[in-house]
Amino acid sequence: MVKLSERVQSMTSSPTLKLVQIKNQLQAQGKVILDFGAGEPDFPTTDNIKKAGIAAIKKNFTKYTTTSGIAELKKAVQKVYEREQGFTAAEMQIVVSPGSKYSLFLLLQAVIDPGDEVIIPRPYWVSYPEMVKFCGGRAVYADHLQPGRLFELTAASYISLCSARTKAVIVNSPSNPTGKIMGGGDLRQLIDFFYKKNILVIIDDCYRKIIYTDQAYPSPMNLVPAAREMVAVVSSLSKTFAMTGWRIGYSIVSEALAAAMTKIQEHSTSNACSISQKAAVEALSGDEDAVREMVAEYRRRRDYFAGRVDEIGHITYALPDGAFYFFADFSYDIAHKKFKDDNQLAMDILEKLNIILVPGSAFGAANHLRISYATSMKDIRSGLDKLSTYLREGK
Ligand SMILES: Cc1ncc(COP(=O)(O)O)c(C=O)c1O
Repeated sequence: MVKLSERVQSMTSSPTLKLVQIKNQLQAQGKVILDFGAGEPDFPTTDNIKKAGIAAIKKNFTKYTTTSGIAELKKAVQKVYEREQGFTAAEMQIVVSPGSKYSLFLLLQAVIDPGDEVIIPRPYWVSYPEMVKFCGGRAVYADHLQPGRLFELTAASYISLCSARTKAVIVNSPSNPTGKIMGGGDLRQLIDFFYKKNILVIIDDCYRKIIYTDQAYPSPMNLVPAAREMVAVVSSLSKTFAMTGWRIGYSIVSEALAAAMTKIQEHSTSNACSISQKAAVEALSGDEDAVREMVAEYRRRRDYFAGRVDEIGHITYALPDGAFYFFADFSYDIAHKKFKDDNQLAMDILEKLNIILVPGSAFGAANHLRISYATSMKDIRSGLDKLSTYLREGK
């Protein structure tokens, strides 16, 4: 049998992608599953974007493209950040990749040497620690589980962990799984602190357009202009435009870093799908009414969720400011039902109610569950009816 590399042996499978498999198996057995595990919009990609993809195929735009992405798409990315954040990225600073997951992978591969530390938030998006480990680095966790300041993303939580080995920090705002946003003040303090120590600040802003507060999303590149070389923005079209399957993400980084990432992409995936790149140009350049409608619908669902969870009582959560997840503390129910942990609670809910929820342990937060509201209001109503009966049993 082939001996697997130590790198891959140290990696664990994605718990969220595993849930997709479980769901498919259960559905194949004829079960009706309510899926609150989804990390993707339940809306279809809009027609204008689909048409741009179809037009690309019809025009035979079906060959390799420049590794770092077609010029038209880079221009569209440039315009978005100019319009939204008053920051103009040079074309040479932009690298388009097959999904922002791969953008992050390239970025970490380009900067992390064995033994380097990367400070990541906890609760974390499941891939951060695995990617860091895969590069030979060590993930260090900025804890946002503090009682009383639930999930608040603070600069202090990162700064206190800085060591001589720190090579990069990752800020995910709005956060998956908590939906919390790091405010401009904290972000400025964090960038200012780390860039002076030559530590790269990576901002994963892939949910930045899905926010429910009135505050403008801060512009990481403008907060500390002298720090720009040491700030890397990673973003995605997946969530904003309901384009998860098209696989388009991008990074805005220093030119030197962009060149390094492009080199890795040259020898791994070559380029993001040509057809998807054309569709992405349309997504970024077309009007955003559909995005606004989707966000308004997520907000309605979030508020409904909060109301129902409040009725159940004893579940501690912080109202998400963005993204489409509720992350809540189910310690009471785990103890009350005499379960070992959140995995057992999630499994019992799946077996008894046919509802998929993601155990908090997957995000480094034991006793929590992540509930995605990127699913229809009908399913949310029926799921919450079932859940509230289940959670009240024997109370
Ligand atoms: C925080 C975060 N970053 C990055 C990604 C990757 O998204 P994609 O590769 O589809 O761009 C996800 C997807 O779930 C995510 O939640």
